[in-house]
Amino acid sequence: MTTFPKNFLWGGAVAANQCEGAYNEDGKGLDIQDIMPRGIKGLPTDKPTMDNMKLIGIDLYHRYKDDIKLFAEMGFKVFRTSIAWSRIFPNGDDAEPNEQGLAFYDALFDECHKYGIEPLVTISHYETPLHLARKYNGWVSRDLIGFYENYVRTIFMRYGKKVKYWLTFNEINSVLHEPLMSGGIMTPKEKLTLQDLYQAVHHELVASALATKIGHEMMPEAKIGCMVLSMPIYPLTPHPDDVIAAMKADHMNYFFGDVHVRGQYPEYIKRYFRENHIELQIEDGDEEILKHTVDFVSFSYYMSVCETADLEKKKKGKGNLMGGVPNPYLPSSEWGWQIDPQGIRYILNMFWDRWQKPLFIVENGLGAMDELIDDEQGGKTVQDDYRISYLNDHLVQVNEAIKDGVSVMGYTTWGCIDLVSASSAEFKKRYGFIYVDRHDDGSGTLARYKKKSFFWYKDIIASNGDML
Ligand code: BG6
Repeated sequence: MTTFPKNFLWGGAVAANQCEGAYNEDGKGLDIQDIMPRGIKGLPTDKPTMDNMKLIGIDLYHRYKDDIKLFAEMGFKVFRTSIAWSRIFPNGDDAEPNEQGLAFYDALFDECHKYGIEPLVTISHYETPLHLARKYNGWVSRDLIGFYENYVRTIFMRYGKKVKYWLTFNEINSVLHEPLMSGGIMTPKEKLTLQDLYQAVHHELVASALATKIGHEMMPEAKIGCMVLSMPIYPLTPHPDDVIAAMKADHMNYFFGDVHVRGQYPEYIKRYFRENHIELQIEDGDEEILKHTVDFVSFSYYMSVCETADLEKKKKGKGNLMGGVPNPYLPSSEWGWQIDPQGIRYILNMFWDRWQKPLFIVENGLGAMDELIDDEQGGKTVQDDYRISYLNDHLVQVNEAIKDGVSVMGYTTWGCIDLVSASSAEFKKRYGFIYVDRHDDGSGTLARYKKKSFFWYKDIIASNGDML
């Protein structure tokens, strides 16, 4: 028997820009993803180009009813998606919202509720309106706080009765690594000063706390969380220099959670700012706003990394936006992401010990190449035992963390239906329980097929984890 709480929120997660498609329909403005045909692996283009897989995505915009029906068949209690900011405010700084965009999410959330599925909404998931990136340089500009405030007021007002769980920014700490994708910052990474980068971080942190404040005022029943990219950082050796290097690297991630949970900047990051000549422009009132802390902490978990003080060994490994020094004890996925199920137990314990806030795992999964084959019933399927064992191993460790006393609200696997990769914009990197017939050369019917993992996850949810 496992120990998952009775109301554990089992489900799956996606983001608007990776699956909706319909990039220019019903009044949607362009967002940064529309000009990033190679994700973070290539340069942005001047305008959308048809080799950009995200423009069509999996056409969820037109097929959401069928897809949500499949999620319901698996027994989802929660479905995490984002609102595409530029469907609501096409340029980001518009005075009035776009009614067609608002109506789309009304219909999407209604469809979830039809099956008793609770929507979990990311307010900003790597889809800053392009105009805000080009005109203001994204979050480097303080003006973004005001535009984001208008946007959150609009969506809280509209969906306050339909959406109980909100996340302010997807993987807010990733802006340190991918300023364009995460923060809509057009200045190339190599030219961006630490001063501008951390000023952008400050603006996002203030905006996030402001959203929490406004959300609590407008929707007293709502639960508002932050979302961080979690990546346990182990010292490469027990040498104290490596231990301190790992601690410092951890700090660069922890401070985002610390601000969200404790409502102020921790001393160690102030030291980092001082030593790197970063002088944040903190305006009157900012510190008061930061005191509006979150109800829960959510995070993505895919892998752990190592850190060392030895510059020779510091060669970066592959990984989810951040990368790190590879761990000699761990296997890797086809994309070089190291697989570490115990890391999820470790990070759950670390976060719980540090913050004592309920935790929500809102992304975890294996990106892999799948082969669609004929099944015995004359249909098609994928025998994705590798995905089942990845997810099963991680969930076993989540169960261990719950036994350790960690409060875990729920678990949404990443890309519960195949979608376009964020980092590489490829389609062949599949995460889903549902196979989508689409390929990187643009071919495919967009038809959906249930993989073996579809039935596995259905059993796990139905047994509340007992079938792990
Ligand atoms: C997270 C993002 O970093 O990882 C998702 O929040 C992303 O948007 C996921 O899709 C998996 O990364 P990738 O690059 O394999 O799509």
